[in-house]
Amino acid sequence: MDNIILIGFMGSGKTSVSIKLSYYMRCTMIDTDRLIEREEERSVSRIFEENGEAVFRDMETACLEKLLDSGEKGRIISVGGGLPVREENRLLLKRLGKVIYLRAKPETVYERLKGDDTRPLLKTENPLGKIRELMEKRSEAYENASDYIVDVDGKSLDEIIEELVHLV
Ligand code: S3P
Repeated sequence: MDNIILIGFMGSGKTSVSIKLSYYMRCTMIDTDRLIEREEERSVSRIFEENGEAVFRDMETACLEKLLDSGEKGRIISVGGGLPVREENRLLLKRLGKVIYLRAKPETVYERLKGDDTRPLLKTENPLGKIRELMEKRSEAYENASDYIVDVDGKSLDEIIEELVHLV
C-alpha cells in the first residue's frame, strides 16, 4: 500500500481520522506536528513563540524530506494545516503518497476548536474571522495538493472512515 497523507485545515479531523484509519487498516500512523515536537523537545506553540512561524515552516519541509528519504510505505501520515501552503511541500507530498484533503467549513472548524489553546495562529480576538481568512487563502493550495477531497461537515468519524476506506 502507498502512504496515505491527510491534509486539511486545523480542526478538520486529520488526527482523529488518522488514528482510527490506521487502527482499521493495521498500519503505522505518523503526525508531522508530533514528529517535530519530539525532535525539538518542545511544543509547536513554543516553537512559534521562540522562533516564529517561518522557522516552524522550515522544520515542516525538513520533516517531509526525512519521511521521503526513509523510503517507508504503507503509513497514514497526518500533516500540519499550514504545511501544504508551500509549493515545495506540495511537491514533496505528491512524491510521498496519495493525498486526501479533509475539507471542512469554517464554522465546523470553529466549533471543534473552541476552547483549544494549542493553535498559535488562532490565538486572536476573532478566531472565526481568522479561520475564514486563512481558509480563503489556503483552499486552492489544499485542492492543488490533493488526489481526493472528502467533505467532513456533519459527518461522524465512522462515516468519514467508511468513505476513506473506499477511496484508498
Ligand atoms: C497550523 C496547524 C497546526 C500546527 C500549527 C500551524 C496551521 O496543525 O501545525 O499550529 O498553520 O494551520 P494541525 O492542522 O494539526 O492543527
